[in-house]
Amino acid sequence: MKICVIGTGYVGLTTAVSFAMMGHDVIGIDIDQAKVARLQAGETGIYEPNLEDELQKMLALGNVSFSSSLEEGILASKAIFVCVGTPPQADGSADLSALHQVLAAIRETVEQTADKAQTARVIVIKSTVPVGTNDRIARLFADLPNLFIASNPEFLREGSALHDSLHPARIVLGTEEPQALAILEELYASIDCVRVKTTRANAEMIKYGSNAFLATKISFMNELARLSAALGADIREVAHGMGLDPRIGPYFLGAGLGYGGSCFPKDTSALTELGAQHGVQMPLLQQVQQINEQQPAWFVAQMKRHVPVLAGRRIALLGLSFKPKTDDLREAASLRLIPLLLQEGASVSAYDPLCNERVRQLFPDVQFADTPYQALAGADAGVLVTEWEQCVNLDFAQVRAGLKLPFLFDGRNAWNKQAITEAGLRYIGVGRS
Ligand code: UGA
Repeated sequence: MKICVIGTGYVGLTTAVSFAMMGHDVIGIDIDQAKVARLQAGETGIYEPNLEDELQKMLALGNVSFSSSLEEGILASKAIFVCVGTPPQADGSADLSALHQVLAAIRETVEQTADKAQTARVIVIKSTVPVGTNDRIARLFADLPNLFIASNPEFLREGSALHDSLHPARIVLGTEEPQALAILEELYASIDCVRVKTTRANAEMIKYGSNAFLATKISFMNELARLSAALGADIREVAHGMGLDPRIGPYFLGAGLGYGGSCFPKDTSALTELGAQHGVQMPLLQQVQQINEQQPAWFVAQMKRHVPVLAGRRIALLGLSFKPKTDDLREAASLRLIPLLLQEGASVSAYDPLCNERVRQLFPDVQFADTPYQALAGADAGVLVTEWEQCVNLDFAQVRAGLKLPFLFDGRNAWNKQAITEAGLRYIGVGRS
């Protein structure tokens, strides 16, 4: 099927490449001409495993192309995916200005063409938007009888985006219009998973609810980790024991430095704000956000139980991105931890396989290293901030030789506690006895 994907950011580009891999004829549209040229040359400009390789393969096969011309994309396509950003505004609510600009351009393009009454097309909103937005869009387009609106939220994770797009746990198809549903079912025919066919509003709520619930699981475990630390329990074993109950499940029970990224922080605040706009208090979700924001400060307080005076000490941070296998720094725990340590009077050395240069722009006083060992050499203590493989699998005897004090603080509960202890170092995790 001929489809176009408007907005070639993280979600849009992954959507375009994965549909191309399913054999569809995809055109990716972006107003940024330099980006279009780069994508057309096979460069993604972001770090996402396999995405660049598959982009190049799909370009060679002719399954995907890129353009700045909305008209070209829209008129050629039966499905128009809108994947523009909906960043948070100062009050936490989602900024829909990019979405509205795209919708106005789609209307103008369709109105100007002779075939507006003949070709059935569906506008598919993948951008995360407040509940009710898709219905409002449907009302705005009600006068164009062959243009349908559907909400089709995405559930891909950075670092495994292509895999998640091609092997989803479910596909949510939110639309009241059978014509839109028929196009979407044809489009996703090759993907073997459950379809949730529902209303547009339900689809929007499923997206927010899913992210908010996952964020809640993490904050819950971080709260329980604080108590475990105080009582001498080990949160990893607690999580294992809890997760075996199928009603709880083993995923997203990982205590640590808190969640980051472009989605959980943004979507939890957007949902709380949506509640406030409709007179519904959401104290649980507010606490989820607060626990997350406080987690790096709680972690520093834990560090001070072992190294009471951080002033004059050098602390080595391993990993800076918000999670491994991505170069995304949005809401990364590292960006909260660095100022907290600097405020304590500590100096900071750091290593990340992809983010050193961008963090240097924000914190020029941090010493950046080319390897984890270099960051740790001469430091008083080390902190695992992001569980990159190269930061997790270390030779701890070598680490011991370089560290001044014997402390390793595991901000992701991902290091091998036994190997650390055997190397003569002290292991301190998040909520671990
Ligand atoms: C998240 C969701 O997992 C996706 O389903 C969703 O599509 C996406 O947001 C989105 O809305 O676009 P993502 O932000 O890429 O995906 O990353 P996650 O793997 O969910 O991790 C988010 C944060 O939670 C990371 O900082 C991670 O370190 C943290 N985390 C995750 C924990 O602290 N503990 C855990 O047990 C799991």
